[in-house]
Amino acid sequence: MGKNKFIPALRFKWLTPVYDFLIGVTMPEMHIKQSLIDFSYLTDGATVLDFGCGTATLTIMAKEHRPTIKITGIDIDKAILVKATEKINQKNLDIQLTGYNGESLPFEDNSFDRIISCLVFHHLATPVKQKALVELFRITKSNGQLFIADFGRSDSWHQRLLFNMIRGFDGYTPTRANAKGLMLPLISDAGFVNPSIKKRFKTVFGEVQIFNAIKQ
Ligand SMILES: C[S@@+](CC[C@H](N)C(=O)[O-])C[C@H]1O[C@@H](n2cnc3c(N)ncnc32)[C@H](O)[C@@H]1O
Repeated sequence: MGKNKFIPALRFKWLTPVYDFLIGVTMPEMHIKQSLIDFSYLTDGATVLDFGCGTATLTIMAKEHRPTIKITGIDIDKAILVKATEKINQKNLDIQLTGYNGESLPFEDNSFDRIISCLVFHHLATPVKQKALVELFRITKSNGQLFIADFGRSDSWHQRLLFNMIRGFDGYTPTRANAKGLMLPLISDAGFVNPSIKKRFKTVFGEVQIFNAIKQ
């Protein structure tokens, strides 16, 4: 994939308008996102980044969960940020949105207490995952934490089989490290410590896991 190329939310740009509907009817979306928020333990005034915010469903849920947080959503797809802006404006919430060039995140070092991200990393080829994680490490504050919900290697052959089906849709290259169970090593390699899997969700597309790690 060339520079700044990306896989849209549902693989094809023309499917983006129905992303919220399709993800809602096929996945335990709200359960996954609420767990991500609960594990993140968002405290009053915390600075939070939603990496790959898409239509801002998680960003909005986090802001409504703890209204005093300062939350920013970032996404590489400018078109999906238009939809995110509409949803945020409808609810009149104080949420910042920004675009990403796929290279460097537009934030100072040590800016965020929490990084949250849902179903983004299986869209990124391994070198892109590595680059994104190094950037996320740079902008995380000392003692800040990373929480990622995404597909991981399941102990269940049935879940692995189901994930292979979604791999055909999303692509074998971006999903390879997820399928091999390499998310935790990749997170460690970026500098984060104490990487762990907090929770596993069995879905019709394979197992989604919540990965957590800390910046010391
Ligand atoms: C499946 S959607 C998930 C959206 C949202 N996080 C959610 O859970 O509803 C994946 C998102 O990742 C974004 N994305 C893909 N490649 C990206 C990259 N390199 N950097 C940031 N976001 C990216 C897509 O534009 C899309 O919005």
